[in-house]
Amino acid sequence: MGAIQRVARTTWHHTYRYSIPEGVRAQFLDHAYAADTLRRRIASNVFLVALQDGNIVGFSDFRTLSQTEAELAAIYVLPGMQARGIGGRLLAAGISHFATGTRFVLRVERDNALALRFYEAHGFQRSGELTEELFGYEFHDVEMVLDPGF
Ligand SMILES: CC(C)(COP(=O)(O)OP(=O)(O)OC[C@H]1O[C@@H](n2cnc3c(N)ncnc32)[C@H](O)[C@@H]1OP(=O)(O)O)[C@@H](O)C(=O)NCCC(=O)NCCS
Repeated sequence: MGAIQRVARTTWHHTYRYSIPEGVRAQFLDHAYAADTLRRRIASNVFLVALQDGNIVGFSDFRTLSQTEAELAAIYVLPGMQARGIGGRLLAAGISHFATGTRFVLRVERDNALALRFYEAHGFQRSGELTEELFGYEFHDVEMVLDPGF
């Protein structure tokens, strides 16, 4: 669990260093990756980790929404390990846990150009935009969907 929390913290602070204020990042991480919350996510979701020399360097977290729909709730690879195919494998392995025909949805911060490119390269399409206030900060997200049959 500690290793997953470390990957989340390091990658979150690095990814959003220019777009989300540090205090907001810290509050989000304390909330979404608190031990209890993380334990629940690991128990109920399709939660995968990527290992390099026995160390966790990335993870993905897929949440079932209905019999036909799942959400990619998180996918994070340590900054130094990105762009080596690990994210692609975490994505494909997660998708393979669900029935053929499942629709996948996700939200991504609108300034996160690398992640937007990654998702689009894997067949996700933009389906909308969403603004959500959390910890007194307005998050601007792009909603994306991977439709069955892609
Ligand atoms: C998005 C992410 C999970 C992809 O994992 P990854 O292991 O870097 O992805 P892969 O190596 O399988 O694929 C790389 C592709 O993703 C994109 N990409 C994403 N992050 C990148 C980075 N830091 N450097 C280079 N390319 C990156 C590129 O489009 C690249 O495509 P290319 O190989 O055609 O150039 C990973 O980069 C990451 O953790 N980023 C920071 C956290 C984040 O934004 N998570 C998603 C939140 S919604």
